Amino acid sequence: AKEQIPLKVSINKKSYAIKADTRTTLLDLLREDLNLTGAKKGCDHGQCGACTVHVDGQRVLSCLTLAATLPGKEVTTIEGLANGDQLHPMQEAFIACDGFQCGYCTPGQIMSAVACVKEGHTKSIAEIKEFMSGNLCRCGAYNGIVESIQKVAAQ
Ligand code: FES
Ligand code: FES
Repeated sequence: AKEQIPLKVSINKKSYAIKADTRTTLLDLLREDLNLTGAKKGCDHGQCGACTVHVDGQRVLSCLTLAATLPGKEVTTIEGLANGDQLHPMQEAFIACDGFQCGYCTPGQIMSAVACVKEGHTKSIAEIKEFMSGNLCRCGAYNGIVESIQKVAAQ
């Protein structure tokens, strides 16, 4: 039998009272229970970065984060980045700099990119690439992604 536990979680500044299996990941909670499908399930094993979100402002891989660890913390997903109709500067930069092609990896790339700038890992292209190395892109949009980060870091 599955053990269901009641959880109160705050996602994009909205509070949700839910019941979840003790082994439910944040990624499944978002996508399957809350219909927040921006974070993508690429590998489900911590190897692609497509599921990246923020917990208390730090980036995490939501496929490796248990929902049960979330009460008292604030989760931010790609859906919570824009301010109404106003895109986040990193979203605008990805559009301006061709930071994506098919778009599958993009929500995770953008969440990592926001953390990259916020944490100041932008002193060189090598430093940006190192910080972003956990976010894979099958389309090879890496140059545009680095440019997007440099653009926002310079603002
Ligand atoms: Fe989480 Fe690939 S889906 S790292
Ligand atoms: Fe297609 Fe990155 S834009 S996987």
